[in-house]
Amino acid sequence: MALRTLISNKTLGLGLGFRHARSLQTFSLPDLPYDYGALEPAISGEIMKIHHQKHHQTYITNYNKALEQLDEAMAKGDSPKVVHLQSAIKFNGGGHINHSVFWKNLKPVNEGGGEPPHGALGWAIDTDFGSMETLVQKMNSEGAALQGSGWVWLALDKEVKKVKVETTANQDPLVTKGANLVPLLGIDVWEHAYYLQYKNVRPDYLKNIWKVMNWKYASEVYEKEIA
Ligand SMILES: [Fe+2]
Repeated sequence: MALRTLISNKTLGLGLGFRHARSLQTFSLPDLPYDYGALEPAISGEIMKIHHQKHHQTYITNYNKALEQLDEAMAKGDSPKVVHLQSAIKFNGGGHINHSVFWKNLKPVNEGGGEPPHGALGWAIDTDFGSMETLVQKMNSEGAALQGSGWVWLALDKEVKKVKVETTANQDPLVTKGANLVPLLGIDVWEHAYYLQYKNVRPDYLKNIWKVMNWKYASEVYEKEIA
């Protein structure tokens, strides 16, 4: 994730006049590894541009704001404020984490998008789901059934070394379902991800997104984590 660093000087409230320099890491919008229109016709360029420049950027802006407020609250020992900020951090930080994975999960068809995995991940999917078709059906049905907004994930459970399907609500990142879970693929089922093109027909969006899925990325993550 892209980072920028703010250097802030804080005076410790110890009556010692002691100053120290601390760095607070904040986040910035990562570039997409392809053009906005490169995933058409599966996902329109208009959707990709708004999704990236507006939605993801807003999560980052609000995440950074919450982190700066948290920094101030902790420096003051303001525990109620620290606790109050947790929901904004989870929502906006989750939005940043999830979208950063999502962009990497997609790839133009002419660069290999949609080509199913061979090798270790392909074997793992066959072993744990029976076939690629079964996995796609499971993710599509769970994504279509997810009430409101959220995400459907293909996850690696590092503890038991199995791949599994999980869903999360709102912008909860996969780690909220277990520290042992690593996202291999995440599909955004918020309306902002498909409504301009697919209107209310979420199943059609889910059907078409597989045509631009970046299985190479998922395989690389899987092989690195399983090693
Ligand atoms: Fe989104």
